[in-house]
Amino acid sequence: MIVCICNNVKDRQIKAALASGVDSMQALKETLEVATCCGCCEPMVNDLLEEHHANAVDSELVSQLAYAV
Ligand code: FES
Repeated sequence: MIVCICNNVKDRQIKAALASGVDSMQALKETLEVATCCGCCEPMVNDLLEEHHANAVDSELVSQLAYAV
């Protein structure tokens, strides 16, 4: 699915960038040029960013709980 129409950036490109360590809005702008034209896609990019951070926290919490048990 295309997230940034201005720069033809798809959600899977954003997810791949996040998985590779690009983990801030500024870094996504610099890497993929999302939200650098009209800015309409910024809320959706931010949702993907927050989802990525939430999943990272969940994974860390699960590993800590597994270690504690
Ligand atoms: S849709 Fe992404 S900058 Fe316009």
